[in-house]
Amino acid sequence: MIDHQEKEFKELMLRYNFAKRTLETELDILLKEYEFNHETTPVEHIKSRLKSKSSAIKKLEKKGYDITPENIKNHIHDMVGVRIVCSFLSDVYDIVDIIKSSNKFRVKDESDYIKNPKDSGYVSYHLNVLVPLYLQKNIEYIETEIQIRTVAMDFWASLDHKLRYKLPDDIPVYLQREMLECSESINVLDTKMQHLYEIVKKYQDK
Ligand code: GTP
Ligand code: MG
Repeated sequence: MIDHQEKEFKELMLRYNFAKRTLETELDILLKEYEFNHETTPVEHIKSRLKSKSSAIKKLEKKGYDITPENIKNHIHDMVGVRIVCSFLSDVYDIVDIIKSSNKFRVKDESDYIKNPKDSGYVSYHLNVLVPLYLQKNIEYIETEIQIRTVAMDFWASLDHKLRYKLPDDIPVYLQREMLECSESINVLDTKMQHLYEIVKKYQDK
C-alpha cells in the first residue's frame, strides 16, 4: 500500500477514536441529566467499541468495495459503535428521543427494528449519528452507530451473534426457526414487563 494512503488510514482511525470518546462523553452527560430529572436509571449498561482497521477492510471486501479510506467513510457505518442496554421498552424510546433532540449530534439514519424486526428476528433501535469534531482548522462530522435495546433483546442478539460467528454461511433452517421463535417470545416478555412496570409506577406515584 502506498505511503500517503497509509497516512490517510491512520488519520481516519484517529478521527474515529476522537468521535468515540466525544460520543461516550456526550451520551454520559445526557443520560446522567435524564437520571437526575426523572429519579430513575433507564440504562442497564453501555458498551462502546472501535472497529479495527482489519475488520473494516474485511467488511469492505465482503461488500465488494476497494480498500480505501474514502470507502470506509462512505460504506462502513459502524466504525464507532455504542450499545445502550435498558430495562424496559419505554426506556428504549425515551433514550431515542433524548438523543434525537440533542443538538450535539445530527441524526443521519434511523431504523426501528423493534417495530420492524429483521428477517433473522433481530430487534433493536438503531440511530446513526454524525458527531462533530472540533479540529484545529475545521469541524468534521464523523458517523457513528448507536444501538439501543432491552436486556431481553440483548440476550437474543448475543446468542444470535455467536451462532453467526460459528456458522457464518449456513445456519440450519431449524435453528433459524427456533431463533425466530425466541425473538417472538422476547417481544411478548418485553411487552408484559412494560405493562407490569406501568403498574409498579402507578403504586410508586401514589
Ligand atoms: P451494515 O452494512 O453492517 O450496516 O448492515 P445493515 O445496514 O444491513 O445493517 P444495520 O445497519 O441495520 O445493522 C448493523 C449492525 O446491527 C450489525 O453490525 C450488528 O451489530 C447488528 N445486527 C443487524 N442484524 C443483526 C442480526 O440479525 N443479528 C445480530 N446479532 N445482530 C445484527
Ligand atoms: Mg447499517
